[in-house]
Amino acid sequence: MAQTGPGARGAGGLPVVVVGAGGMGRAWISTVLRSRDARLAGVADVIDGAAAGAVADLVPAGERDAVRTGTDALEVARAAGARAIIDVTIPAAHHAVTADALHAGYPVLGEKPCAATLAQALSLAGHAESTGRLFMISQSRRHNPHLREAARLAGELGGAGIVATRFSRAPRFGGFREEMAQPLIVDMAIHAFDAARVLVAGTPESVTAVSWNPAWSWYDGDAAASVTIRFDSGAVHTYEGSWCSPGRETSWNGEWSLSCPHGTVAWDGENPPSATREDGREVAGRAPAADALWELDSSLAAFCAALREGTTPESEVHENVWTQAIVEAAVRSAEDGRTVDLAEIMDEALTAARELDRSDGRSSALESWKTGSAGGGVV
Ligand SMILES: NC(=O)c1ccc[n+]([C@@H]2O[C@H](COP(=O)([O-])OP(=O)(O)OC[C@H]3O[C@@H](n4cnc5c(N)ncnc54)[C@H](O)[C@@H]3O)[C@@H](O)[C@H]2O)c1
Repeated sequence: MAQTGPGARGAGGLPVVVVGAGGMGRAWISTVLRSRDARLAGVADVIDGAAAGAVADLVPAGERDAVRTGTDALEVARAAGARAIIDVTIPAAHHAVTADALHAGYPVLGEKPCAATLAQALSLAGHAESTGRLFMISQSRRHNPHLREAARLAGELGGAGIVATRFSRAPRFGGFREEMAQPLIVDMAIHAFDAARVLVAGTPESVTAVSWNPAWSWYDGDAAASVTIRFDSGAVHTYEGSWCSPGRETSWNGEWSLSCPHGTVAWDGENPPSATREDGREVAGRAPAADALWELDSSLAAFCAALREGTTPESEVHENVWTQAIVEAAVRSAEDGRTVDLAEIMDEALTAARELDRSDGRSSALESWKTGSAGGGVV
C-alpha cells in the first residue's frame, strides 16, 4: 500500500544526517524524505545557514522541527540521534568527513568519488576496517534498472566480453568543470567506468587513454577522451566521450553496445535495452517494474538493507576503489602516453595512504595489506 502524508515516509526508518547541502546534498535530502528506509534527522553544512536554508526549502513545514541543522556534522548527528551519515560534501572534504564519522561510530553512505584521490580512498578503506563500520559509495548510475536488464540480456548471450560506450554532450556548466585539467574523465566518465563494471566479469587490470581538447571547446582542460580498460577476465570496455559535442547528443548515460558470444545488446542509456541474437532474432528487454527504485533511491535502499541485514553491499569502499583506480590510471595514461597497470596505481596509492594514516594515527589497518590490489577486495 502506498504510504503518503507526514510521518509515513520512513517514519520508523534509519535516522540519517545529510552532510553537505549543495546541489547534490539537496537531491539527497529529497531522496531521504521520500524513503521508506531512512528518516531525515539532520542536515549539516560548513557554510553557516546553508543547512537550515536547504531544510526550509525542501522539508514540509510540519516536519522541519524534527530536523536538526548546523555547521558541524558530528555535533548535528549526536544531537539528532542519527545512526548513519550521508556524505555529500565536495570531494576534497570526503576523507575528513567520512573518517571522522566512521570513528564516531557512524556508518557512511558517501557520494562519488570515494575521495579526492585514490590514496585517500584506500585510507578510507582502512578506516572502515579499523572501525568495523560500513562505508558504501553511492555510484548512482549503476543503480539503473535498464543497466541491470542489459546485464541480464548479456548473461543470456554468454556474457559481455566487449563493452563500448559512446558519450556525447555539450553542457555549459561554468565553474570548476571548465577549469579542471581532465573534466570529462574525472567528473563524468567515472560513471561509465563504474557502470561497465556491472556489465563485465573480473577486476580491471590496465587502462590506455588518450585525451584532447577540440579546437572549439569552451573547457580549459581536455573535454574529449578515448579510454580502453582491460579486465583480468579478458573483457574490454572502450569509452569514447566528449563534453563539447553539440548536435546529436547521447543520453547522460551514453549509448552502450555489449558484444557477447551469442549476440549483441544495445542500450541507448534511457529506454529498456534490446538484444540481437546470433540468428538475427531481436529480443526486447523487459521494462522495469513500476515500483523499481532508481539511482539515489536505490542506492539509499541498498545502504539501509546492508545495515539492517549485516551484509556487504555493492560499492562498499573496498570494491569501489577500483572505479577510482580506473579514473587515476586513465588520467596518468593520457598524460604519459602509455598503458597504465592498475597494480602500479594501487601500490603507489597504498604507500601514500599509509603515510596519511601514520600521521593521522587513528588507523593502522593498511599496514597488513600486502599490496594495493590485494587489499581492495572485489565484492
Ligand atoms: N551522482 C551524481 O550524479 C553526482 C552529481 C553531482 C555531484 N555529485 C557528487 O556530489 C558531491 C557534492 O557535489 P555538489 O555538486 O553538491 O557540490 P556543491 O559544491 O554544490 O555542494 C557541496 C557542499 O558541501 C559543503 N561542504 C564542504 N565541505 C564540508 C564539510 N567539511 N562539512 C560539511 N559541509 C561541507 C559545501 O559548503 C557545499 O554546500 C561531490 O562528491 C560530487 O562529485 C554526484
